[in-house]
Amino acid sequence: MERHVKLGKSDIDVYPVGLGTNAVGGHNIYPDLDEEQGKAVVRSALDHGMNFLDTAFIYGPKRSEELVGEVLKEYNRTQAVVATKGAHEFVGEDVVMNNSPTFLKQQVEDSLRRMDTDYIDLFYIHYPDEDTPKDEAVGALKEMRDQGKIRSIGVSNFSLDQLKEANKDGYVDVVQSQYNLLHREAEWNVFPYTQENDMTFIPYFPLESGLLAGKYDETTTFNDIRAQKPSFQGEAFKENLQKVERLREIANDYGEDVAHIVLAWYFSRPSLDVVIPGAKKPQQVEDNKRAGEIKLSRETIVKIDQLFC
Ligand SMILES: NC(=O)c1ccc[n+]([C@@H]2O[C@H](COP(=O)([O-])OP(=O)(O)OC[C@H]3O[C@@H](n4cnc5c(N)ncnc54)[C@H](OP(=O)(O)O)[C@@H]3O)[C@@H](O)[C@H]2O)c1
Repeated sequence: MERHVKLGKSDIDVYPVGLGTNAVGGHNIYPDLDEEQGKAVVRSALDHGMNFLDTAFIYGPKRSEELVGEVLKEYNRTQAVVATKGAHEFVGEDVVMNNSPTFLKQQVEDSLRRMDTDYIDLFYIHYPDEDTPKDEAVGALKEMRDQGKIRSIGVSNFSLDQLKEANKDGYVDVVQSQYNLLHREAEWNVFPYTQENDMTFIPYFPLESGLLAGKYDETTTFNDIRAQKPSFQGEAFKENLQKVERLREIANDYGEDVAHIVLAWYFSRPSLDVVIPGAKKPQQVEDNKRAGEIKLSRETIVKIDQLFC
């Protein structure tokens, strides 16, 4: 039996390495992934027992959820654990965040319809809005959970104060925020709270959009969202590449790929036992499964910690 972990206080079991499907749908953020390739990426996860899929209304928009839903039809529904997110509202030309109970409940219904499924395993509030009390927003999702439409509740991109308010009644199972070796702020503010409150912390951009996978060099150029990321610019990019070279030495000692050493390192963090790296090729997904099996020594964990602190 492969290692599985539970999501927060729920009874939902997932393989520790899931799949982030932000790129699935070939939308404008990642223009070079067509829809069939995207579906092949999702199938690859399920075919290899990586049962946890992470999508969102805004990926596409809608298209990632729809394609994930099409793939789900090819499998027994219980083979997949599907997380999705809502909060973005299109108002004319603008996109605003809306956490009102009515809007969130409608978002759950819309996601169910788009994925053509009876239930969603994990539904996140994707981003906080400025107005809605966060415990009321989560209360709406609790109602959806009581009705069997969702199985667990998550929040994403919440500050610690917003998280505390959201979890006033203890209903939040999962927190998803940006976290990786180059962005470690969550360690100091969110991790102690998630650990104390039996929540799972899931980091997004775990590979810093590929930078921590150890395959780029100073000559690599990007035609997608990465072209605008500060960690991919000028001196910062060069410094980051140098650090990744140090990681390569460690990975070589283990006979593993840099990406998998990075993903395995995250499991040494408190309350972090699930990762959702994105992928654009089925082979990357299959390869990433390896990260769930690597055991790093205490010495290696400290060495990587110091290299990126
Ligand atoms: N909650 C939120 O607000 C939020 C925000 C952003 C993302 N997310 C979630 O987090 C997920 C992960 O983020 P992400 O996909 O943007 O970034 P990521 O996981 O940091 O990086 C994914 C990229 O790393 C490269 N890669 C993956 N596996 C590899 C391997 N085995 N070998 C070599 N390269 C590999 C691929 O880049 P190449 O293109 O170079 O192949 C892939 O596209 C998203 O899909 C989404 O589900 C959530």
